Amino acid sequence: MAWTKERLEDVVRTRLAGARLVVVANREPFIHVYDGSEIRCMRPASGVTTALDPVMRATGGIWVGHGSGDADRAASDEQGRVAVPPEDPSYTLRRVWLSREEEEGYYYGFSNSALWPLCHAAYTRPRFEVEHWDAYRLVNRKFAQAVLEEVESEPAIVFVQDYHFALLPRLLRQARPDLIVVQFWHIPWPNPETFRVCPWKEEILSGLLGNDLLAFHTQYHCNNFLESVDRYLEARVCFERFAVTRRGHTTEIRPQPISVDPDEITALAPADWEYEERRMRNKLRVGNLPLLIGVDRIDYIKGIPERLRAVDRLLNKYPEWRRNFCFIQVGAPSRTHINEYQALSEEVRRLVEEINWRHGDDSWDPIIYLHEHHGPDKLAVLYRAAQACVITSLHDGMNLVAKEFVAARTDEQGVLVLSEFAGAACELSDALIVNPYALDQLAEAYQTALTMPLGEQQRRMRRMRRQVADNNIYRWAGMLLSAAGRLVEPKAPYSVRRGVRQVHDNGVPLLT
Ligand code: F6P
Repeated sequence: MAWTKERLEDVVRTRLAGARLVVVANREPFIHVYDGSEIRCMRPASGVTTALDPVMRATGGIWVGHGSGDADRAASDEQGRVAVPPEDPSYTLRRVWLSREEEEGYYYGFSNSALWPLCHAAYTRPRFEVEHWDAYRLVNRKFAQAVLEEVESEPAIVFVQDYHFALLPRLLRQARPDLIVVQFWHIPWPNPETFRVCPWKEEILSGLLGNDLLAFHTQYHCNNFLESVDRYLEARVCFERFAVTRRGHTTEIRPQPISVDPDEITALAPADWEYEERRMRNKLRVGNLPLLIGVDRIDYIKGIPERLRAVDRLLNKYPEWRRNFCFIQVGAPSRTHINEYQALSEEVRRLVEEINWRHGDDSWDPIIYLHEHHGPDKLAVLYRAAQACVITSLHDGMNLVAKEFVAARTDEQGVLVLSEFAGAACELSDALIVNPYALDQLAEAYQTALTMPLGEQQRRMRRMRRQVADNNIYRWAGMLLSAAGRLVEPKAPYSVRRGVRQVHDNGVPLLT
């Protein structure tokens, strides 16, 4: 039976035994910003929020996230709560307020200068600073407190997102042993040898083992996690059942690749494709040229310089493509306070200039670089107009652009060029799978994509579309929440359990 929004709603109604659903994610799904004296509500550029917002619309519940917009306080009540989506409220957003120092240490510091490079094999050195670690610990406690306030004394399933919250599950378990805590780690997990350099590896592993269920995109990342626990903690690791037992508590580890909502992406299709495509082509001055596109945050894991160098290589090898195609790179600025991101931004800008200078002329540039965030409507037009979408991640948990592109191709045409180092390559084997470090191979893949006969494009695209339709975001959430639901019943209500160390007069346990 296909996974749909309705089936997911059904799972939540029937399998969660009335438990509240609380999602915790660093990014909020809606952000309020001042536009003069007006307040505007926007959706941030983030794979996690794009994936989870449809789930929350279907299930209801509470989303606990960092209130990062300059008008967020003005748009929320005293507890930091606001009903979302604004046009059709169906769940509650609970905002957690962070000071500049907390954000600097927890988000830019430990999350994105230590854990991010540690978990991605992209040869950027992780930076471990005690102040960042302290801020990370403190912010995990703040979020834990907010979650405990939201669940009150009710049974609840807490669905934690990503590497920003490695310590949160243990904190929740200590305060409320009866909560069901499930975490999805959206990025790769490194092998034990790589993970070894982290000065706080035991604390991180121990924090994550506060989960009842911990999921990764791929089996390979699950194996790496189990091996890391086996190597660095006193725990019973069962490789047959994919479970870890430590101090009487068991954490199940499983792969569950994330996805998109193909129907939502299809619904973005403009009524008049031809008009929208013409408008976009006129604006970018690309006439009727075949387009290769790249859509990324500017991040060193995405292999953007490699991708651009392969354009150079293609033009050297096949000069007949001069003036006969165009590469459009959308690069959303990201984590711009971090040196490595600033350096990459500069490198990309310089490379575009160099390659355009070498091969371009007064009326044609091989690369058009759009250094700004593009909303889903604009992307829908680009995806649909492209001859090929190019993803060259040096390492990536999943890469949802791959699935968005496939979902957008209702015409069943277009080619996906996909790095073997992105999680999406495990599922989308009808893409042209490339090693982005091998520039000649990448340039050949561009050549193949630009010349692929329509029949072959259609055969490949149909199979990929079936894959994305079957394994959509509702399946991802449904599988994880059903597994969580199976754990609800056996747990006694927390009031009869020991382990709640201190309780507020409103029934909310305090973290000690
Ligand atoms: O891929 C990992 C991830 O955290 C996603 O979950 C998220 O969409 C993306 O990185 C963007 O990160 P940030 O929230 O830091 O902009």
